[in-house]
Amino acid sequence: MSDTIRQAGAIPSAGAVSPAGVVSPAGVTRPAWAGTKPPRLADDSPGFRALIGQGWADQHVPAPVDSAAARAAADHRARLSAALPGRTIVLTAGVAKNRNGDADHAFRADSDFVWATSCQAEGAVLVMRPHAGGHDAVLYLPPPARPGERDFYASAAYGELWVGPSAGLDAWAEALDLPVRPLDSLVMPSEVADAGEVLSDLRMIKDEWEIGQLRAAVDATVGGFEAVAGEVAYAVSRGLGERWLQGTFDRHARTFGNGPGYSTIVGSGPHAPILHWVRCDGPVLPGEALLLDMGVEARSLYTADVTRTIPVGTGFSAAQRQVHDLVEAAHRAGMAQVRPGGQYSDFHFASMEVLARGLADWGLLPVSVDEALAPEGQQHRRYIVCGVGHHLGLDVHDCGKSEYDKYHGAALEAGMVLTVEPGLYFHAHDETVPPELRGIGVRLEDDLLVTPAGNEVLSGALPIDAEGIEQWASRFAK
Ligand code: GLY
Ligand code: MN
Ligand code: MN
Repeated sequence: MSDTIRQAGAIPSAGAVSPAGVVSPAGVTRPAWAGTKPPRLADDSPGFRALIGQGWADQHVPAPVDSAAARAAADHRARLSAALPGRTIVLTAGVAKNRNGDADHAFRADSDFVWATSCQAEGAVLVMRPHAGGHDAVLYLPPPARPGERDFYASAAYGELWVGPSAGLDAWAEALDLPVRPLDSLVMPSEVADAGEVLSDLRMIKDEWEIGQLRAAVDATVGGFEAVAGEVAYAVSRGLGERWLQGTFDRHARTFGNGPGYSTIVGSGPHAPILHWVRCDGPVLPGEALLLDMGVEARSLYTADVTRTIPVGTGFSAAQRQVHDLVEAAHRAGMAQVRPGGQYSDFHFASMEVLARGLADWGLLPVSVDEALAPEGQQHRRYIVCGVGHHLGLDVHDCGKSEYDKYHGAALEAGMVLTVEPGLYFHAHDETVPPELRGIGVRLEDDLLVTPAGNEVLSGALPIDAEGIEQWASRFAK
């Protein structure tokens, strides 16, 4: 600071040049090249170019995929090949969406691509060309730019100086036991099958490896619920609100998985009835019911999807408890329908019937239960406009491209994984419900594996009854 302050008369004339730089009229020393255009390293600076490619130790980075994942993907490709004989199949990992300017959203590889490859590399393409006995699969990847290449320092997308050392094509080929070629050698075939619906159908039955991934995602999610329960009192006392709890879960998901599997929903009090309350920017106040819909996506990208509604404070109010008890009854009725042989939508109708009867008992249905349950009625759906569940896997709403007769109209089979998630949503400005129910939203959501004998509740470590939830929440409260 002090050497920029000079006495009047001691200021050197503008433009005086010293070996150290230019001294401005204000007496500030500027670098010798001030005012000139900064050199473009790749074009203007042979000195830099001669130096930058040298002196780097070899880095061997293994492909980030284990052998069990690679074997599962090979099995998936075999099923895909059998489903589309004689057709050329092209699956792409995709590229990150632009966020603004030259900043992108975090990249997350396409689920079909991951299912068929277990590779999550941005820009990668899988090509399966048909032959008499099936398909030959080749993976095309953008190679990392290594020392000696211009992009090593010049490409912010692929240059290892920018993005860190990455697995090369050889490492990927070894890990996946697949031929791997550089992306720029790919000549796009013209006759390509649209495999979206076929893949959706194939992805519906999970194999043992996938079930293991879903178990891990659910277990990590249970840990995330415990972490959030442990922070509720702190969030309330410090006025930190929903944002803090969202951040708590998302940090947990990032640490113990790949991240949240969908936008975390933390809705307290009047936000709880808002189905997709992903803004998570409100307060968390004592006495409110707090709806938490949160799922960890494992590093393999399989995700959990779990919801509990917990009291903020020691216990539910009478009105919150009344709503919770009815949702619990609907949840139990729905889960009881999850078994092989039953139709997928049985659990939806079972849950809905319990809700409709309960709403009628409370005087909230303007018609009889039978009229409400008829397709042309559905008056009870005012308080639950969403469905009661969905398939779960690499996508939170998995297998969404399957037709009705393969999804809602299909029989449940062992190996399917789905959510059951009834709820009641009484908005704060809903004048059809008594004031004590307004602003209460309750959902119970569990992840179920269909087994030969019935089902297994993967998220069963979390209680579903109001009292059990109160005790669970207080056990983790700090
Ligand atoms: N979290 C989204 C859902 O429950 O479907
Ligand atoms: Mn769900
Ligand atoms: Mn959910």
